[in-house]
Amino acid sequence: MSGTPHRYALVGAGSRATMFVNAVIERSDKARLVALADPNPHRIGVHAAAVEAAGLPAPAAYDAADFDRLLSETEPDTVIVTSVDATHHEYLLAALAADLDVICEKPLTTTAEHAAEILAAEERSAGKVTVTFNYRYNPLHEKVAELLREGAIGEVISVGFDWLLDTRHGADYFRRWHRLADRSGGLLVHKSGHHFDLVNWWLDAAPVQAFAKGKLAFYGENGKRTGHDRGYDRVAGSANAEGDPFALHMAENPQLKELYLDAEGEDGYIRDQNVFAPGVTIYDDMMALVDYDSGVTLSYRLTAYSPWEGYRVHFNGTRGRLELLVVENDHVNPHLKGPNGASIHGTHEAAEEGWYEMTLHPFWTKPTKIDVGEYQRKGHGGGDQRMLAVLFDGAADPHQRSATARDGVNALAAGLASNESIATGQAVAVTDLFKQ
Ligand SMILES: NC(=O)c1ccc[n+]([C@@H]2O[C@H](COP(=O)([O-])OP(=O)(O)OC[C@H]3O[C@@H](n4cnc5c(N)ncnc54)[C@H](O)[C@@H]3O)[C@@H](O)[C@H]2O)c1
Repeated sequence: MSGTPHRYALVGAGSRATMFVNAVIERSDKARLVALADPNPHRIGVHAAAVEAAGLPAPAAYDAADFDRLLSETEPDTVIVTSVDATHHEYLLAALAADLDVICEKPLTTTAEHAAEILAAEERSAGKVTVTFNYRYNPLHEKVAELLREGAIGEVISVGFDWLLDTRHGADYFRRWHRLADRSGGLLVHKSGHHFDLVNWWLDAAPVQAFAKGKLAFYGENGKRTGHDRGYDRVAGSANAEGDPFALHMAENPQLKELYLDAEGEDGYIRDQNVFAPGVTIYDDMMALVDYDSGVTLSYRLTAYSPWEGYRVHFNGTRGRLELLVVENDHVNPHLKGPNGASIHGTHEAAEEGWYEMTLHPFWTKPTKIDVGEYQRKGHGGGDQRMLAVLFDGAADPHQRSATARDGVNALAAGLASNESIATGQAVAVTDLFKQ
């Protein structure tokens, strides 16, 4: 081992934690996971066992409610926050108060009040917040940034962005805590935050106003109208769930079983609810018109019940147009299947592999296909590993992909303004949201 290893503590020991735990394990020469916190001791145990299996000392285990004690007793250098969205601020604020750096999963938080508190806490702290917007690190998205910055289409005037989540991945947000707006902020915060962040980063601009529409038209009790609902509460133990293309069979997937099914006794977190069960408080069909401080306008759509997964984004500029079409591999690829063939995101087969097409249409000349190499098949289009190299190894960051707390707030702003606009029927200015 060279020198003293950097000490990490992680809070929120669910599935996303796996990527960070593995990243620290893989860098055991310079990094050490000293503590894990979660309300669920079983899930902590799963991650701790992975650390021990690598021949490393077991991290100390804490109830998330004892986070301050964790900080004082285990003295981490950096805190990693991968907990339920609506709880991020608690750990950000505690870590910043202790002058620690924080690596925080998106969304930074779920309310304007907490966003303002985090920015103020960072001002007072010697610690720094990095928000893990891994989509920035996808080579396709870096290429878009590069083309726009070098003026390939001149000055950008408007953007169109249409994101589709399929009935496996999109459905997953309706099986557990994401289905509750007060836990996830709804998909305009939880999911669109990625997309709004990309636009902010691509344009180097911040949203100032949003007008939006949103509805819950497919999941939840709509299943009765559409005939998709098979009338059970959760998959495990329900005969009606057999053969349901929307059902997540945790027992057939070792990771899901270990992390959630076997952990239920501790906290009652049910990971496999029927997506058509009542109680959903988020939207599954959303659109927003967003104005940017640079004058650019964005028209955005998010559909969570699409037959295919991916997105179309286009930029209209003063010298041409740039278009990107992506069939997202991560959630259509059968690599997400468990060892005995059960799909993690439902039971039906993926229709195709991921692919992309990027086209530059300059004025008065033939369109050019932009080749960004073979489509990266794993980890958010290859973004995850590239992000970890910047976060943990100090790899070069040529496009300023590393996102700050302010970037996190700007990504949140369009989603929060959109949610407020849906509620009020009015256009909502971002400054009004952050008035207090
Ligand atoms: N960037 C990405 O691509 C990406 C992908 C997946 C998840 N995420 C983010 O990672 C985070 C975790 O998502 P996940 O899919 O792992 O969810 P998960 O449900 O698997 O894990 C969440 C964990 O938080 C714990 N928790 C619940 N209440 C808590 C509290 N009060 N304090 C601390 N922990 C608490 C739960 O017990 C659980 O272990 C979310 O913020 C999500 O947005 C990001």
